[in-house]
Amino acid sequence: MTTPDPQDIADAAALLRAGRLVAFPTETVYGLGADAKNADAVLSIYETKGRPRFNPLIVHVPDLAAAEQLALFSPLARKLAETFWPGPLSLVLPLRPGHGLADITTAGLDSVALRVPDHPLALALLRATERPLAAPSANPSGRLSPTRAEQVRRGFAGAVPVLDGGPCKAGVESTILTVDGEKLVQLRAGALSRAEIERAMGLPVEQAAKGAAIAAPGMLLSHYAPNAGLRLDTEPRPGEAWLAFGPAAPFDGITRNLSESGDLHEAARNLFAMLHELDAAGVTTIAVSPIPETGLGEAINDRLNRAAAPRDFNPQ
Ligand code: TXA
Ligand code: MG
Repeated sequence: MTTPDPQDIADAAALLRAGRLVAFPTETVYGLGADAKNADAVLSIYETKGRPRFNPLIVHVPDLAAAEQLALFSPLARKLAETFWPGPLSLVLPLRPGHGLADITTAGLDSVALRVPDHPLALALLRATERPLAAPSANPSGRLSPTRAEQVRRGFAGAVPVLDGGPCKAGVESTILTVDGEKLVQLRAGALSRAEIERAMGLPVEQAAKGAAIAAPGMLLSHYAPNAGLRLDTEPRPGEAWLAFGPAAPFDGITRNLSESGDLHEAARNLFAMLHELDAAGVTTIAVSPIPETGLGEAINDRLNRAAAPRDFNPQ
């Protein structure tokens, strides 16, 4: 049952390269995979899961060499990878310049969570696809994470192809760690215990303070915080920058339009990149047009609300 059929893997890899979703088994839970460099493909993860916000996603790679193309590894980070990969450990590391990942994959952060799954089918798929794969658990938002292919098929009513690798060994998601200088900080408890990491590394593993900027950014009120303040659901005033949506009147100031045609998918794809661009222009305030609260609009508004929320840390 868990023997990978080469033709199934080749078919799945072709779908992924074409920007489609494929669910695949890992040692933790089944993942809903998409090409992490293709913004549209990653957006379909959110649409398919019905996930109302854009959390940064874990990016799966076949080995350390592939991971090093995407992120910067300190000697300590490399030692963690060499010790625990393949395995249920995700490492949050600074993005390497030229990484090529879609902004939406990292939710606009300058770091990325990477892991090498310990599952022959997942590894065969990653090698055949030759793309890093973003993959959250393959369940509709708010439901239990799936540990069997049937649960994935049922959850998405057969709409997503599933590679069947039998039941997952671990059944809970990977442990997420980050490396802060010479310190190890756990951002999410998971299938690899803190004690095991401490034993192998000879270092204590701290738990990220609740609400710390670095911990599970999807959960924080103020998450992607631009330097500029945001005014939502409004029109721009002189001196402000404008993040428009839909047909926009002329404005004498720096402007980006999320989607002139009012397409929420296009708007979601542009969101983080345009916020970065407007922020880089050095304005103090960005006015944001109203975004309808339908479809992906829910996730866009969630992110905008977080970006506009009072800051409890210094934005960078
Ligand atoms: O076991 C697993 O890790 C499963 C299987 C499918 O591999 N995948 C999984 O992925 O749970 P995902 O994408 O749902 O995990 C997302 C979480 C975020 O909510 C956040 O807590 C953390 O990973 N994360 C991702 N990128 C991050 C970053 N740059 N900084 C801090 N945390 C990050
Ligand atoms: Mg999940």
